[in-house]
Amino acid sequence: MSHDLFEAARDAMARCHAPYSQFPVGAAIRADDGRIYTGANIEVASYPEGWCAETTAIGHMIMGGGLRIVEAAVIAQKKVGCTPCGGCRQRLAEFSDAGTKIHLCDMNGVIQTVTIGELLPYAFDAEALK
Ligand code: THU
Repeated sequence: MSHDLFEAARDAMARCHAPYSQFPVGAAIRADDGRIYTGANIEVASYPEGWCAETTAIGHMIMGGGLRIVEAAVIAQKKVGCTPCGGCRQRLAEFSDAGTKIHLCDMNGVIQTVTIGELLPYAFDAEALK
């Protein structure tokens, strides 16, 4: 993975709105259109209504014209190798293949790379609805 995706995730994290958890998270998606889409977690006073960095990034990708995730990076200031939450695994999987790589980071770069298939085995997907 080139360093630009990590840097995009790290820079996005700085835009988080996380006054309640004080747990900044950033995400960056390289999409099939060649562009990088980013996001940070956005919390609200009614706690369950906030959302994750990955979800922000997916929204940006879809509205920007990207259709599929080629690879993604996730970073959290206070957790080395932070993995996407369960809900975000489902959302990432919607726009990925099982082999799509998710790069887990520390503050300096990628420390581990896993696939969506590893993060979300036995996924419920569009096939189930046919
Ligand atoms: N968070 C993310 O942004 N992504 C994840 O995959 C894990 C959790 C955020 C949500 C909340 O704003 C904060 O981290 C603490 O849960």
